[in-house]
Amino acid sequence: MTSQLLLCGGAVVLPGEIKQQDILIEDARILAAGAHLAGDAPQATHVDINGLTVFPGLIDVHVHLREPGGEHKEDLYTGTCAALAGGVTTVLAMPNTDPPITHRESLQDVLASAAARTVCDYGFYLGGTLDNAEEAAAIPDAIGLKLYIGSSTGSLLVDQLPAQIAHFAAYPRDRIIAVHAEDEAAVQYYAGRGQRRPPMCATLATAHVIALAEHFERRLHVCHVSTAYELALIRNARARGLDVTCEVTPHHLFLSMADEQRLGALGQVNPPLRSPEAVDALWAQLDVVDMIATDHAPHTLDEKNSASPPSGMPGMETMLPLLLDAAYHGRLSLPDIARLTSTRPAEVFGLANKGRIAPGHHADLTLVNLNHQWTIQNEGLFTRCGWTPFAGLSVHGKVEQVYLRGKQVFDGDQILAQAGDGCLVLQG
Ligand code: DOR
Ligand code: ZN
Ligand code: ZN
Repeated sequence: MTSQLLLCGGAVVLPGEIKQQDILIEDARILAAGAHLAGDAPQATHVDINGLTVFPGLIDVHVHLREPGGEHKEDLYTGTCAALAGGVTTVLAMPNTDPPITHRESLQDVLASAAARTVCDYGFYLGGTLDNAEEAAAIPDAIGLKLYIGSSTGSLLVDQLPAQIAHFAAYPRDRIIAVHAEDEAAVQYYAGRGQRRPPMCATLATAHVIALAEHFERRLHVCHVSTAYELALIRNARARGLDVTCEVTPHHLFLSMADEQRLGALGQVNPPLRSPEAVDALWAQLDVVDMIATDHAPHTLDEKNSASPPSGMPGMETMLPLLLDAAYHGRLSLPDIARLTSTRPAEVFGLANKGRIAPGHHADLTLVNLNHQWTIQNEGLFTRCGWTPFAGLSVHGKVEQVYLRGKQVFDGDQILAQAGDGCLVLQG
C-alpha cells in the first residue's frame, strides 16, 4: 500500500529561487511540488510546515566515519546520526580507516556494517595504494577512488608517480578520482623548517593532479581546496575543457589562522587553516567552487590534547547552521546553499534521485527555521567525539526536521530513524 504525505506551506528552496509551495510525497519519492496541492491529495497525511524553509537533503561528499578501527571517535551509527542532526541525508565516507578500505573484501565488510547500522544514505570511496590500481578500477560498488597524494590521518599515501599514473590510467574515466592534494615532499620539506603545510604544498599537488587528469583525459575532484591559488588552477583547467570539480570545507570558510591560538590543537587540520586574507579570497571565488563538504574528521578531546594531536575536526552538525547564518548576514543566498550542499554534489557524483526538490526525486528534505537564533555547544552533539570548534558561536538558523526517502528521521532534537535505515548510493 502506498502512503502519501503532504508538507504544507513551507518556503521551498529551488534552483535560483524560493517559492511558497506544498510538497506531496508518495512513499520514498516526491510526487509533486506546487501551490495548494491539498485538493489533489485527499488521502495524504497533512503536516503544516509554515514558517520553515525546505532544502533538498544535504549531500556531504567528504566524511570520516572511523569504522573500522576508530570506533572510540565515531562509528557508522553515531556518524550518520550526526549527519541527520546537521540536515545531511547522504554521506560519502572516506577509506582511511584502520585497516583502510582498499580491497574488495574490506569494502564488502564496511558495506555490510553500514547496511545494518547507518541512519542516513551512504557511499564509500575505495582508497588507492601503491599497488591496487588494477583491482580498484574493477570494483563497481565504491562511489569513487580516493588518492592521498600527501599523507594525513591513517596509512594511505600514494606519493609515487608510477602508482599515481597507474591509477589515473586504470580507473574508469567516467568515475570520480578524489584527491587529497598536498604534496608530500613539500609537506616534509616545510616540516623540517618548522612550517606546517603552507599553501605551496596544496598548490604544487593541485597543479600535479590537474596535469595527470589532463594527460589521461579524465575527470578529477579536488578535496578541501583552501587557497585562491588552487581555485585559479582549477578555473584555468576548466577553461581548457577539463572536467575538474572541487569542494571547500566549512572550517576553511569560517575559521582562519586567527582562530588557531584560541583553538589550539582543536584547530589543527590538513590542509591547515589559512590566513584571514586567504579566507576572504575563498569567499570571493565561490563561483569556482562546486560544493561545500565538511571533511568531518572526529578525534577525541584526549587525542587532541595529547603531545602529538591528530589533524581534523568534526563538521556535519554545524555546516548548515553556519551557512544559514552566513545567508542571514547576506554573504550568500539560500539557493546558493542548496546548490553547494546538495544539487551540485548529486550531479557531480551521479546520484540521479537526489539533490532536488522535484517530482521523481527522493523525498530527502531538510527543514530549517531561519530565524531561530541559538548558540552552538558541545553538549548534545551526536558525534561521538563530543566537541566542535564552533562551540560558543551564536548563529541564526536551526535544523528543525529532516526527512529521508519520505520518512521523518529527525525532529530537531531526537533521531527518529532506526539503525539500518540508510541505503547505499551508487553513481548511476
Ligand atoms: O585533517 C585531516 N583529518 N585531514 C585529512 O585529510 C584526514 C582527516 C582525518 O581522517 O582525520
Ligand atoms: Zn584530505
Ligand atoms: Zn578528509
